[in-house]
Amino acid sequence: MNLSRRTLLASAAATPLLTGTGVALGTGEAAASPARLRTALDYALAKLGAVAPGIISFPEITRAEKWTYVADGGWVGGFWPGTLWLAHLDSGDARFRALAEAANDRLAPRRLDPRDHDLGFLFSPSWVTAYRLTGDAKWRDGAVEAANTLTKRWNAAGRFIRAWGAIGTPGNAGRVIIDTMMNLDLLAFATEQTGDSRFLDIAIAHARTTRTHFLRADGSTPHVFDFDPDTGAPVGQNTVQGYSPTSCWARGQAWGIYGFTTMYRRTGLNEFRDTARKMADFALDALTPDHVPVWDYRSPLGANDVKDSSAGAIMACGLLDLAKATGTDRYRDRALRILDGLVATCLTTRSTRAEAVLARGTRNRPAEDGVEVSLPYGDYYLFEAILRVLKPAQVAKAIGL
Ligand code: GLY
Repeated sequence: MNLSRRTLLASAAATPLLTGTGVALGTGEAAASPARLRTALDYALAKLGAVAPGIISFPEITRAEKWTYVADGGWVGGFWPGTLWLAHLDSGDARFRALAEAANDRLAPRRLDPRDHDLGFLFSPSWVTAYRLTGDAKWRDGAVEAANTLTKRWNAAGRFIRAWGAIGTPGNAGRVIIDTMMNLDLLAFATEQTGDSRFLDIAIAHARTTRTHFLRADGSTPHVFDFDPDTGAPVGQNTVQGYSPTSCWARGQAWGIYGFTTMYRRTGLNEFRDTARKMADFALDALTPDHVPVWDYRSPLGANDVKDSSAGAIMACGLLDLAKATGTDRYRDRALRILDGLVATCLTTRSTRAEAVLARGTRNRPAEDGVEVSLPYGDYYLFEAILRVLKPAQVAKAIGL
């Protein structure tokens, strides 16, 4: 039998780690018992405890199950310290805190670096969480500086934050991406800390622009929407990481569900809650029976295409928050099912080589760059989602729920 590497990895990851008594859900199925999630988190802590002391850079993606790194953090540099902070939160282990602080410190130069929009990805799980957990003003002040850097990418004509490309350069000047919804909470934090409404005003305006132009009638979204950078006139939908301009890239949809729910929580504006709801309803209808997202909900291969476990972990976090925001148990039930699917079929438990926790991620399928890999945001949001279920009060403190 000639098994592809993808098949081998998927089957290695698919062996269930866990047993336990499930929480009874509406359909009578059982999903995501606290014991099952606890066992998964213990596995994650053990893996992190073994791997983290040897890591002095920022994990970006696995190659043959080992982390490869991006020295300045790229767009992912917040997730490594973020995961360590959550590990410290759960375990109380001072070694995780020391490693988290050291990783935070390595990110410092990026707070003044306006080269792209990723400042929220970089500084929310790392410096904002560090401030919320320790009260050390150094982290707060740096996060506010990062928020200020992000505002430099504001395009007043189009009322959006530019995603990519150096300020003042023409390439990608009018390009907005759904991912930016995740960077807005850094602006909300800056307003909360400084009292200067300018930050949150930009976040609200960007979210409104995204809602107006990305949200389709069926609740799906494109990865990209282009504008004329000078006039702000809309040009049209597009994609880089999704299957096509009219498809729905699963991780982008998850960023939107999480990001719009967060914006609702920060502002109380119902338009953001309703947008998150529509996006969630679309994604939940599109999920395959194993509850793990295919990388694009409109891939022509449908359920037979590769998965993106990171989209599942991000969406689970967003749905748990949306359940609270809307008072709708269904979103929590579906989040628990997604977590069950991830724990049952995506953990690295059967691999002796693996350095990450969550397998079966997809970074960029159109570019065939990172398929059946582990991703630091997959691990981070898995930690966050499980802790949202097991230790909601502690997570609320860490990420300001
Ligand atoms: N924000 C880039 C990605 O999700 O791949």
